[in-house]
Amino acid sequence: MLTELNALKMECEREMSQIESLETLEEIRIRYLGKKGKLTDILKNMGKLSAEERPKMGKIANEIRDELETFISEKKEALTRQQREEKIRSEYLDISAPAKTREVGHLHPLTETKVQLENLFLRMGFRVIDGPQIETVKNNFDMLNTPDDHPSRDPSDTFYVDKNHVLRSQTSPVQIRAMLEYGAPIKMISAGRTFRNDEVDDTHSPMFHQIEGLVVDKGITIGHLKSTIDIVLEELFGEKLKTRYRPHYFPFTEPSLEVDVTCTHCHGKGCPKCSLTGWSMELLGCGMVHPQVLKNCGIDPEVYTGFAFGMGLDRLTMVKHGIHNLRLLFDNDKRFLEQF
Ligand code: DAH
Repeated sequence: MLTELNALKMECEREMSQIESLETLEEIRIRYLGKKGKLTDILKNMGKLSAEERPKMGKIANEIRDELETFISEKKEALTRQQREEKIRSEYLDISAPAKTREVGHLHPLTETKVQLENLFLRMGFRVIDGPQIETVKNNFDMLNTPDDHPSRDPSDTFYVDKNHVLRSQTSPVQIRAMLEYGAPIKMISAGRTFRNDEVDDTHSPMFHQIEGLVVDKGITIGHLKSTIDIVLEELFGEKLKTRYRPHYFPFTEPSLEVDVTCTHCHGKGCPKCSLTGWSMELLGCGMVHPQVLKNCGIDPEVYTGFAFGMGLDRLTMVKHGIHNLRLLFDNDKRFLEQF
């Protein structure tokens, strides 16, 4: 019996040393020490022992039970601790770690300039109109009083989709669409993409953006034109930049003007960027709407006069932010765009 008891003890300890879960531990406990367990089985044979041996064996059996119980409870404790540590490790949350920030984007600087100008013009009572990027030759040139031999009509300057359609070379055809649809009086602007067969350089790109404006009403003068343009430029650049109006030629305006602002590099002193002139690249063209254009759209030039302008949105944005290369606006490099 003694050998049986010792064997049971060893077997139980060996089994327990291998287990890894509390459930198995409990199962083993029942199997060895439970009411119908192995120990009870052995003790059933107590009756066969002599009266002398019985208390001795009883004592040994109790000792073994105690030892095994201690062993089990120690093992239980160890397993519980181990499980808790594992749980803590798997659910570990370092509240002092820097939070994962969610990157929030913002409008592209070009879109921002467009929205800023649209809002400004809306406040001044202008209508905001959209026009198609594929335009008829009629709207892009004919209706705008462009002579047949005007160089801008040449396929080396303008992208033709077919004989009668071009990728619009300017936003000016939206003026025509607006006058045909709404008649006079009218105050409108329209911003969007324009296309020209230009080589890419610091200030040119085959795709660029313009914002067009048109005001037709009774008694509109060049004074209205100049004050409107001045308001726009002040909105964009503040008062620090000076403007210069130069006579120019456009088929659809008479007289026509081009507007420059002081060079943002040298602030007017003259530097290589502005070819020593002190003035930045031309930013916009404007003028009094040619009577023929009004007539083309069914508006009587004896009753109505108007002014119009077309600004380079990209160039305005460049001057506004001191960007010296137009391409940066189209590359969509986040490192560049994040700066705004
Ligand atoms: N469409 C002209 C261009 O692309 C710019 C322009 C000049 C627009 C005078 C106008 C204007 O409306 O009146 O160069």
